[in-house]
Amino acid sequence: MSSVISFASRQQSSDTPRNLGLAVLPIKPGSMISRWASYPAIPSRMVTKMVDLRSDTVTKPTEAMRAAMANAEVDDDVLGYDPSALRLETEMAKITGKEAGLFVPSGTMGNLISVLVHCNIRGSEVILGNNSHIHIYENGGISTIGGVHPRTVKNNEDGTMDIDLIEAAIRDPRGEIVYPTTRLICLENSQANCGGRCLSVEYTDKVGELAKKHGLKLHIDGARIFNASVALGVPVSRLVQDADSVSVCLSKGIGAPVGSVIVGSKSFIAKARILRKTLGGGMRQVGILCAAALVAFQENVSKLEDDHKKAKMLAEGLNQIKGLRLNVAAVETNIVSTLIAKVLKCEKVSSALQLGLENIFRRSRGHKNHSRNAVQELGTAWYTCNARESNQVHEDVYIHSHLILSSSLIFFTTFSIRVVLHHQISASDVQYTLSCFKQALAGVREDTGI
Ligand SMILES: Cc1ncc(COP(=O)(O)O)c(C=O)c1O
Repeated sequence: MSSVISFASRQQSSDTPRNLGLAVLPIKPGSMISRWASYPAIPSRMVTKMVDLRSDTVTKPTEAMRAAMANAEVDDDVLGYDPSALRLETEMAKITGKEAGLFVPSGTMGNLISVLVHCNIRGSEVILGNNSHIHIYENGGISTIGGVHPRTVKNNEDGTMDIDLIEAAIRDPRGEIVYPTTRLICLENSQANCGGRCLSVEYTDKVGELAKKHGLKLHIDGARIFNASVALGVPVSRLVQDADSVSVCLSKGIGAPVGSVIVGSKSFIAKARILRKTLGGGMRQVGILCAAALVAFQENVSKLEDDHKKAKMLAEGLNQIKGLRLNVAAVETNIVSTLIAKVLKCEKVSSALQLGLENIFRRSRGHKNHSRNAVQELGTAWYTCNARESNQVHEDVYIHSHLILSSSLIFFTTFSIRVVLHHQISASDVQYTLSCFKQALAGVREDTGI
């Protein structure tokens, strides 16, 4: 299996979707496939229930958000006159305790602009986590577009980087004839790839002190800073007190459809505004998007605590299922990462999963043939897993899922599972998800050690 298998277009009768959009990524022995390699489109009509746990980015705008968008007061934001954008930016600056804010189309652009403002001389170096979003998932934009050199420091399981390792990574200015020049440290809070762990205020302060001591700037990728703030019980402004800039995503835990706001000093934002235009991120009547974000703030910040509780509930349930292992205590916010336990007997697990999936598929109303195809495709995927065993490759096996859980689909790709809670996942969705997992793993036997 070397290419994406799509279940699309198998059924083209008028009452079934032409493009079911489910894609199974190949499971290559010994390889981990990035969860970003492909997201399946969600089939809209074939399922009776859809629990979409891929990410908190998948939320749909609520009625109130849509109404706000329709009625938004707007003007040309590139000229700086859009009242809704100004309101959102002012609000965000206030909440984060910074002088000014700027709406940008995405978290990626927010981080890129921030890094580029702080590292405005080519050959600057930024210290950042080896598991950080900026380093892994942003196309290396800081290098390719900004000429900024990344110096990674290992992220610990809790998302921190050891302070002494950060300090050791700072270049000695006396070596500037050969070294790049360190200008910036980046933190991420919460740290997505470490399971949404939060960086404490004490830790952030220490990094802030270190940055000041060495004349460096501190940027925080605060895509989920509100999740961190709620989980830690610390106001966002306190959490980012020492940061020279913060990029806050509106379309993650907050649940707005589009955008991020970067905050910092007035002079930082003035430079950021120019860069935003350079990058094509200046948008005219952008108040339409900002109006939805303002509603999202009102509606959803207060729900984050509940999202975290549901994540914990899910984690506790998953941890009780044979074959799944996770550190429940590490679930601090809305992200739950779990692993299929080590050294699986692939054959047993694959048949158990297949059986469980088949049961789930059967429950979907109609579309039985299609479901059968889905099972067969999954079976093919599991075959690769079996091949590992026949090759005597008793490696650690993980199952990774984009986990669009529904009554008819479970989407497995590689070998670890990440689920993300958000305001459109209910407590009963969590129970349903657990029941799907239980069913899928029902055949896992005690004596396999999993
Ligand atoms: C921690 C973190 N930072 C930045 C981003 C980038 O945001 P966007 O997808 O809006 O570019 C993401 C996206 O998921 C993220 O998780």
